[in-house]
Amino acid sequence: MTLPTATIEPRYFRDVIGHLPTGVTVVAGREPGTGSPAGLVVGTFQSLSLDPPLVTFSVAATSGSWPKVRAARHFSASVLSDGQHDVCHAMSSRGADKFAALNWHESIEGSPQIAGAHAWIDCAVVQELEGGDHVIVVAEVLRLQAGGGRPLIFHRGSLGGYREPTP
Ligand SMILES: Cc1cc2nc3c(=O)[nH]c(=O)nc-3n(C[C@H](O)[C@H](O)[C@H](O)COP(=O)(O)O)c2cc1C
Repeated sequence: MTLPTATIEPRYFRDVIGHLPTGVTVVAGREPGTGSPAGLVVGTFQSLSLDPPLVTFSVAATSGSWPKVRAARHFSASVLSDGQHDVCHAMSSRGADKFAALNWHESIEGSPQIAGAHAWIDCAVVQELEGGDHVIVVAEVLRLQAGGGRPLIFHRGSLGGYREPTP
């Protein structure tokens, strides 16, 4: 892929792109061999195709957790609920055991699903595409289930809640 030469200052790019509100989703799997849970927060998770059912998200090439999840081939995406700020902070940190203080259960494939999430989507990785300094992941949806409550929202660098429209 040929990329244009970047002429936009990265901080400015982030500031303006940050005006696009996103959900906050934990992508997590079990590292083969050790069975240790691994995962990270992404704001780029979205649906890609209805038939076949596909989702996509992008991961920084520098992510330490993605290679572990990728190796598992399966992962669960937990769409975080309003109030799960602590989960977001833990899962967007680097290094230490991100899951130590979290409540989670296992998908059929053994992938960690965050307890109390707004929705869970169990997936299998089908493709990875080059996307600048990120990798675009395409995954097949195996099964999915909605939880209750409201979603956690990320907007202009802050976490907030979704407000129901007034009639
Ligand atoms: C709200 C929010 C959205 C994020 N979205 C992404 C994303 O889409 N892709 C990504 O690679 N990192 C994203 N991050 C940053 C990663 O969560 C973070 O860099 C990662 O957890 C680092 O840990 P790792 O090296 O163990 O992967 C996001 C962080 C936050 C707080």
